[in-house]
Amino acid sequence: MTPETRNGMLLRTIEWIPDRGGTLVPGRVRFIDQTLLPQELKFVETRSAQEMAEAIRALRVRGAPAIGIAGAMGAALAAQAAGGDAAAVLNALERAAENLQRTRPTAVNLAWALDRIRRRAREAAQAGVDAGDLKARVAAEATAIRDEDARMCRAIGEHGVHLLRDGCRVLTHCNAGSLATAEYGTALAPVYVARERGWNIHVFADETRPHLQGARLTAWELQANGVPVTLICDNMAAAAMRDKAVSAVLVGADRIAANGDVANKIGTYGLALLARSHRIPFYVLAPTSTFDSRTLSGADIPIEQRAGEEVVNIHGRSVAPPGVDVWAPIFDVTPAELVTAFVCERGILRPPFSESIRRVLS
Ligand code: MRU
Repeated sequence: MTPETRNGMLLRTIEWIPDRGGTLVPGRVRFIDQTLLPQELKFVETRSAQEMAEAIRALRVRGAPAIGIAGAMGAALAAQAAGGDAAAVLNALERAAENLQRTRPTAVNLAWALDRIRRRAREAAQAGVDAGDLKARVAAEATAIRDEDARMCRAIGEHGVHLLRDGCRVLTHCNAGSLATAEYGTALAPVYVARERGWNIHVFADETRPHLQGARLTAWELQANGVPVTLICDNMAAAAMRDKAVSAVLVGADRIAANGDVANKIGTYGLALLARSHRIPFYVLAPTSTFDSRTLSGADIPIEQRAGEEVVNIHGRSVAPPGVDVWAPIFDVTPAELVTAFVCERGILRPPFSESIRRVLS
């Protein structure tokens, strides 16, 4: 199918749709079901926190910032659906937040957004607001998280474009684009800003096994935005770096520890090693909501393991003998020493990262 754009930018990955103008509640959440791309662009609407949790678990909404937004909106849906007084609404929100938190462990944005929405709800309850007001305040907080993410990603693009030059070729992994965030993306944000400036940036996109986010999502959204993209299998990255004049690797992150170790899509660590070997800068682009000062190093980051079936089956067809043993972590940790620089909404962070990260988060 042909990717659709609105005003030249990809359609919104996830948003809160009020039923009536002038008030956020009652409302519903609309999101793109990313498991169906690129064959089908389908918007799903829900009023159920349980359905929102299922969408996160099944990767219908995926990408660290996007699942943070989905979590916050899911909690707001639970509050909206609750009957009774403000205490009952708060209780329903807390229970939904616990359930949403259990969906995916690695991306810290989910915990960050849920903590924020819980804090907001508790403050409102303590201030003695009524149930209707509490519902409106948490819906407003969830939409604020979305809008802030869009602004942070835009700022990442503005800072990150200084690391690129017209005519350069970059390599990326997974999807850290518009679909993974509110808008623009993280790793792809500088590419979109460069595009707006009329620069010609060529992107090599790893297909990204086992869920093919690079092939299905990154290639799709770059095409939609008129950015030249070449799709490669994951095992072609070394050859592409050497033979295709790749001048930088740009990736997103699911969690950045206090020492600068980075959890991101499985395969990122290998890319960082390849980049070091080819003397190519390796940049990690993420909003401050992805930095986790409470996680001291990569060894403390929980790595999500998925069912072996997801490795064995490609689009419903088995590609391995029945009963084969499978190892299926879907994130890995890149040590800080392989990262050239981080780009967040506040600027470019250089080593030593323990210091530059502490400064930017303080
Ligand atoms: O399993 P996914 O698709 O949620 O993994 C996504 C990634 O690993 C992204 O690189 C990361 O979340 C950054 S998205 C801006």
